[in-house]
Amino acid sequence: MSGHQRFAFKSREEFLATIASLGLQIPFAHDISGLFQSLRFAGKTLPNRLAIHPLEGADAGPGGAPGELTFRRYRRFAESGCGLIWFEATAILDQGRSNPNQLLLTEKTLDGFKRLVETARSSAQKRAGKGPSPILILQLTHTGRFSKPQGTPAPIIAQHNPHLDPLHKIPPDHPLIGDRELDDLQDIFVQAAGMAAEAGFDGVDIKACHGYLVSELLASRSRRKSRYGGSFVNRTRFLRETTGKIKAGFPGLLIASRLGLYDSIPYPHGFGTDKREAANPDLSEPIALIKELRKEGLGLLNITAGIPAYRPHYGRPFDKPVRGGILPDEHPLTGVSRLVQSASRLQKEFPSLPVVGTGYSWLRRFFPHVAAGVLSNGGASLIGVGRLAYAYPDFAWDLMEKGALDPRKICLACSGCSTLLRAGGPVGCIVRDKAIYHLPR
Ligand SMILES: Cc1cc2nc3c(=O)[nH]c(=O)nc-3n(C[C@H](O)[C@H](O)[C@H](O)COP(=O)(O)O)c2cc1C
Repeated sequence: MSGHQRFAFKSREEFLATIASLGLQIPFAHDISGLFQSLRFAGKTLPNRLAIHPLEGADAGPGGAPGELTFRRYRRFAESGCGLIWFEATAILDQGRSNPNQLLLTEKTLDGFKRLVETARSSAQKRAGKGPSPILILQLTHTGRFSKPQGTPAPIIAQHNPHLDPLHKIPPDHPLIGDRELDDLQDIFVQAAGMAAEAGFDGVDIKACHGYLVSELLASRSRRKSRYGGSFVNRTRFLRETTGKIKAGFPGLLIASRLGLYDSIPYPHGFGTDKREAANPDLSEPIALIKELRKEGLGLLNITAGIPAYRPHYGRPFDKPVRGGILPDEHPLTGVSRLVQSASRLQKEFPSLPVVGTGYSWLRRFFPHVAAGVLSNGGASLIGVGRLAYAYPDFAWDLMEKGALDPRKICLACSGCSTLLRAGGPVGCIVRDKAIYHLPR
């Protein structure tokens, strides 16, 4: 049994037997109390080891300020009981937006972000009482080749890529973003980080994953005669230098990174992939990069993988593909295992750097047990969930108060949220929050 299967386990025994029969290594703990241990970190005490990953809502108001549904989502996330909330991909300039409804952080929208942070903090406190409040990180992004600021593709690319260019019919003579523009873009990221600090976030992340501009730079071996392409030093320059500048400019801000460890694009066009087999990670370059980022002030690492528009199952194993998408020829547990093992490898390589693990929503009711197993093996410091949070934002409270997830509330990994994002939003759970979110016809 190696091909795709939907989640249909009737018992814990069947789940564990399938993991064994696939030859995978996915830890499992019967006791989930490890999830509720606090973590002293970045001068703060996190109440527990649970995190919500960044999740685009595509529900901004005018000018990219947080809209009504954005406030609703973060109120719900803040009431979740999680120790860390990683706010979604927020564009740093209009040309780099993934769609016209993506959040955009500028002087004009800054007040809206201030109110969003206040809302999140007060909602968390109202629900949790006086205990430690969650850490709030903002993800800053430039969508690069997937930019659609007006709703139609307007790609900004760092290199041509024969595996990705056909997705948006990018012609061979489409110009590359220039070095000067990239120099300026560094400053725009630094300014945005300053605004995030002013808005009250604890930290920022320069999004370097999922094929967007900064992660594409990491793979830009074919970019010639450029300070941002070719050698490892040049390909990593943007992320390293921008990280260092943010740390120098705003020493109180936690520097985080959502790093795509491997994108599954065949060598030499991909990052972090094995030269012989693109399905397998080769973490040597990601590890070398993290060592450099540590010197620049990196204090928190959230891992991910894959490119949603290319092979979404590498980053989020699913039962059903996004509308119009195809099923991969691998068991979702293979994807989960790849993500779990990669997080573990990094956590062991960098024991003093908190690593947030990913890939847990497909596991349904077994997610807390796998998460607790990973934590107890030292395979991550925090466990993050994505799709589960849209479906079941109060999951952490249920785990704390009832010791288990409610099967009527869990994510079904149906890719409805991803389909909504592709359609331009707003994004949420079409199954558990269907009064608000519906698939387009
Ligand atoms: C609709 C949707 C939007 C997402 N938005 C972001 C985002 O803004 N930034 C990001 O780094 N990852 C984003 N992700 C990826 C998630 O953070 C997460 O890595 C992924 O869903 C796997 O976790 P899960 O299995 O718990 O869902 C998104 C995923 C989905 C499905």
